[in-house]
Amino acid sequence: MSETDLLQDRLEQMRGDVELALCGALDFGDVKVAISERLIDAMRYSLLGSGKRLRPLFVLFGNILCGGNYTDAIPAACSVEMVHAYSLVHDDLPAMDDDDLRRGRLTCHKRFDEATAILVGDALLALAFEELGKLPSLEIVGICCKELANAAGATGLVGGQMDDVANEKNLNVKTEKASIDLLEQIHLRKTGALIRVALRLGAIIAKATKEQINALDEYGKNFGLAFQITDDLLDELGNEKTVGKRLHKDKEMNKWTYPALLGIKKSQDEAKKYVNNAINALNIFDNNITEKKILIKITKDLIGREK
Ligand code: IPE
Ligand code: IPE
Ligand code: MG
Ligand code: MG
Ligand code: MG
Repeated sequence: MSETDLLQDRLEQMRGDVELALCGALDFGDVKVAISERLIDAMRYSLLGSGKRLRPLFVLFGNILCGGNYTDAIPAACSVEMVHAYSLVHDDLPAMDDDDLRRGRLTCHKRFDEATAILVGDALLALAFEELGKLPSLEIVGICCKELANAAGATGLVGGQMDDVANEKNLNVKTEKASIDLLEQIHLRKTGALIRVALRLGAIIAKATKEQINALDEYGKNFGLAFQITDDLLDELGNEKTVGKRLHKDKEMNKWTYPALLGIKKSQDEAKKYVNNAINALNIFDNNITEKKILIKITKDLIGREK
């Protein structure tokens, strides 16, 4: 078996463990009778669709790179994917990006209805913190709750989403220099914060050193920027069937994106710059760790990704 195949196998094994745990987390078992079937169906629909599972995988990568055996980190992996899935359901709502396609099928509010989609988001966010309660020690539960709340809230994802929505409605505040700085800040929060915290949680659960956490944080910050820039590029250049989302929406909604502000070529160059920065941030970790090799491949593959 070639090394590439071995790395791919390992990645699929990790992804399989994440999928299994996500399914388990939505098995309400005995209490199911007390919960609306429609709500459970809509939560399953939104969480278990065909996502790439990058963020939960990052929890596991962070954990392994810092010496953990990733089973301890699985609840944190699920919780980060729950926050991500909630953010997508709300991001798609008519009051936000008003999208009808997600992960290759109808968005939650189109498949169900708006009230259900709002409540699915609320329920997934709450469940994310319940899930963290399964972590090995109360001390780790406490630290991870604070970290995740911080990344998900007004200083992180929600704050970034707020500025994303506000900019689209106030194009008159746009000036050349301010816009790129501001856009970077938006991307760092709406997308970067959750990616960073995924790696941090994995590291914290492995009882990582400060140096290790800082390195992963730097990686996550740069990966997050490259990830959102390439998402913005996909909106302009991608194939709708492969991406699984309605495309050309950013322009239609006057979104601030890298391609809108810098054009395609410069945006691609920026994405490459952040990909290189991210890979360099991993220098402190041993090159022989299989999962580091996988992480570097995932990072390089951001350039030219098709979904
Ligand atoms: C989409 O994230 C939202 C962004 C932050 C750009 P992903 O591209 O990771 O979405 P899924 O989870 O694979 O569907
Ligand atoms: C979304 O950015 C970031 C989130 C926090 C959900 P986008 O609005 O560009 O994500 P997509 O393109 O709808 O997945
Ligand atoms: Mg959006
Ligand atoms: Mg959107
Ligand atoms: Mg997008």
